[in-house]
Amino acid sequence: MLSRRAFLGTTAMLGAGALIAPSRTSEARVPASFTPTQTLSLKAGDLDMRLLGPEGPETRTYAYDGKPFRLVRAPRGTRLEASFDNGLGEGSTVHFHGIRMPNEFDGVPTLTQPLVQAGGRFVYRIPLDDPGTFFFHPHCDETGQAGRGLAGVLIVEDPRDPKFDAEHIFCLKDWRLADDGSFLAMSEPDGASKAGTFGATRTVNGVPKLELTAPAGGDVRLRILNLDSTRIMDIGVEGAHASLIAVDGHALTPVLLDTLPDGVWRMGPAQRIDLHIRMPAEGGQVHLGDYRAAEIFQFATLTATGAVSGKRSTKPIALPKAELPRPDLKRAERFSFTLQQATNAAIKAVGLPVDDPLAKALLDSLCVGSTTYWGINQESWPTGERRNVPPPLATMKTGSSYRVTIKNETRFPHPVHLHGHAFEVISSSLDRLPRHFADTVLVQPGEAVDVAFVAAPGDWVFHCHILEHMETGMMGYFRVV
Ligand code: C2O
Ligand code: CU
Repeated sequence: MLSRRAFLGTTAMLGAGALIAPSRTSEARVPASFTPTQTLSLKAGDLDMRLLGPEGPETRTYAYDGKPFRLVRAPRGTRLEASFDNGLGEGSTVHFHGIRMPNEFDGVPTLTQPLVQAGGRFVYRIPLDDPGTFFFHPHCDETGQAGRGLAGVLIVEDPRDPKFDAEHIFCLKDWRLADDGSFLAMSEPDGASKAGTFGATRTVNGVPKLELTAPAGGDVRLRILNLDSTRIMDIGVEGAHASLIAVDGHALTPVLLDTLPDGVWRMGPAQRIDLHIRMPAEGGQVHLGDYRAAEIFQFATLTATGAVSGKRSTKPIALPKAELPRPDLKRAERFSFTLQQATNAAIKAVGLPVDDPLAKALLDSLCVGSTTYWGINQESWPTGERRNVPPPLATMKTGSSYRVTIKNETRFPHPVHLHGHAFEVISSSLDRLPRHFADTVLVQPGEAVDVAFVAAPGDWVFHCHILEHMETGMMGYFRVV
């Protein structure tokens, strides 16, 4: 058998066709006897939406099964078999963001699976052991595909959860639209190399604002997802006390939003929160907004209608404690991943002229663009002499604990996502984060955030979830053997 390195070298010489062979570097966490308890067919395709208003022009967006932000609910413990059909005119994959799962279903083209070509199919077998608010999205041409709306919400229900009187889900996403409803370029160099290219049409669940109701005096669970490609949001609530009860799906000891700096939770792309609010008396209103933007984006108003019966405790409702592998901080080995600006071009890294068809095929197979603005530990994705997947930025051992310092040496904030793990956010050099579990953490310029986790087997990418940053170099992976 060829070694992995020799294998990669050979495929590069053979050309792009061979590149779609998946790498098998480790065993799956799920036994071969995976018996699905829920099946799902996910077909990616076009969907026409009127994002500029009911009288406005149509926009041809992308969606799973023709539903914007397709919602999937499953009880904790579900063995989900999701068969993905690619009805787009381009390659895609599905990444179930934040779910701990066997590496082979992680959805990263070339690294964990072949790219699913237009018209192709791939079956994902995903254990859903952690309750919470998750989502799924393509992992190729993300600025293009996610920018056009391709994403779904995955709610893993916990039968042990306390009862709420109502629940609402909010998918926040901006769109880059011209007046005629067509898409503007998803990425501009000035955005990609700086804070990102923003959309000007702001929406929640595909509309400008939601007017909702909830029972007066009732306890409401709000699941808020930042599904934007670029925008960092400061989520705040007016008209009720809100407490943060979960981050990225995982329960934490409730934190009153009012006790946080500026009374908001800052949330980068891909991050999710669950809030608990107690509705005011009949007729009272609660407003939800993003207070970071120059102009406050108020995305929902909940009006109290009809009362609930029974006495309520005045305390915030806590979710059952997250049952996640707890890293052993005393024994944890340390690594650091430093986020940097980069100047080398990916195309240079593959060592071929820009117009060489093989160079283009290589870049396509890695699902990256040809420009590099960013790097991690002096490496950009892809880079090095290798004409394929770069070497891992760290090698770890299955079941061991690791403490990783994510340091931001750039002038822009970056939400950093580690695949396949729920990590504990241990500390921030700016001292601004409560201790909690997450799969994505926002790292401010000059900040160093320590996260810790128990390593699961596989090749796991980690990257900035500002999608342009990821596609212009801010991605790497660690190998767990
Ligand atoms: Cu949600 Cu690699 O991403
Ligand atoms: Cu970034």
